[in-house]
Amino acid sequence: MSENRQLIDKLYAKNILSRSEFKSMLDCYTQEDAQYLFKLARQVRERVYGKDVYIRGLIEFTNYCRNDCYYCGIRCSNSNASRYRLCDNDILQCCDKGYKAGLRTFVLQGGEDIYFTKEKLCGIIERIKDRYSDCAITLSVGERDYEDYLAWYKSGADRYLLRHETASSDHYKRLHPEQMSLEHRKKCLWQLKDIGYQTGAGFMVGSPFQTTDCIVQDLYFLYELRPQMVGIGPFIPQKDTPFAKESSGTLEKTLFLLGIIRLMLPYILLPATTALGTIAPRGRELGLLAGANVVMPNLSPMSVRDKYNLYDNKLNTGKESVQYLNLLTKSIEDIGYKAVSGRGDCKSIIIRKEERIL
Ligand code: 5AD
Repeated sequence: MSENRQLIDKLYAKNILSRSEFKSMLDCYTQEDAQYLFKLARQVRERVYGKDVYIRGLIEFTNYCRNDCYYCGIRCSNSNASRYRLCDNDILQCCDKGYKAGLRTFVLQGGEDIYFTKEKLCGIIERIKDRYSDCAITLSVGERDYEDYLAWYKSGADRYLLRHETASSDHYKRLHPEQMSLEHRKKCLWQLKDIGYQTGAGFMVGSPFQTTDCIVQDLYFLYELRPQMVGIGPFIPQKDTPFAKESSGTLEKTLFLLGIIRLMLPYILLPATTALGTIAPRGRELGLLAGANVVMPNLSPMSVRDKYNLYDNKLNTGKESVQYLNLLTKSIEDIGYKAVSGRGDCKSIIIRKEERIL
């Protein structure tokens, strides 16, 4: 048996590998190794979640952002971005649309827009929860104060997505301006977990200056954090950013990492992301076959769809919009899975303290 197969078996049995084992596996694996990994990843996801795929309605409610991340198309210094904010009623209308289509999780995602104060967002969360008490709300609005996180949780928010972007502080500095730090990002993630949110971290695959060592650090950070969700997707350049001329992350590497993450964190809610669907026509289906179990179609009004341009050519018609939910459901059935309606909570939020980090 090849050395990589043995490592994949070990990861399956123990959930973790040493740093050097991860590194050697990531540096050279074959298509056969990847297929073997995906088979085990599917076994694990099916043991925990059966054939179910959870569908989240994504509402991109503001593209104003105070940050200036070098990779992101809605960075504050991009004067070509046409800025918008949805009002409370717009957001509620998106939820109505999603609810009618069977969605029971709404993801409120935006740039770091302090127009949405603690109080304003509390109001929006409460209005959604009032109307739809059987739905989960996921927030994804970046780094904010502990008091804000706590207040939103008390208002009814259930989950929070905050990608760490990279767990190497040197790499972090090369992706972000000086004011931002990995340390602060991590602090926010621990706070969110501590408050009780189902918390999601994650990173881009193939971002500029990323090395295998960075990825190994990402995996170790995820293992230590024990998030309930992990969002990963390929880096894709955006024309108005300093990284406009950089190349994209690959489908292949993203899929391989999805498989690894599924084996490392069997209970994880793992989306096949829009970015994955953007770099390859069947990207999201392949993501589901590599261990992912969540998809997040876009619920935002058509009028703002083309403004939330984190990267170039972002999908904004077809399966990623709720109008095409039937198509999405069908493409999930075609690969042997089942799109389910329901909140789709993480099946284990218990931190398994007895596990040891090598
Ligand atoms: N390519 C891929 N993903 C990106 N994101 C931001 N910009 C890009 C890009 N150019 C991701 C970041 C962020 C999430 C909302 O989108 O990881 O956390």
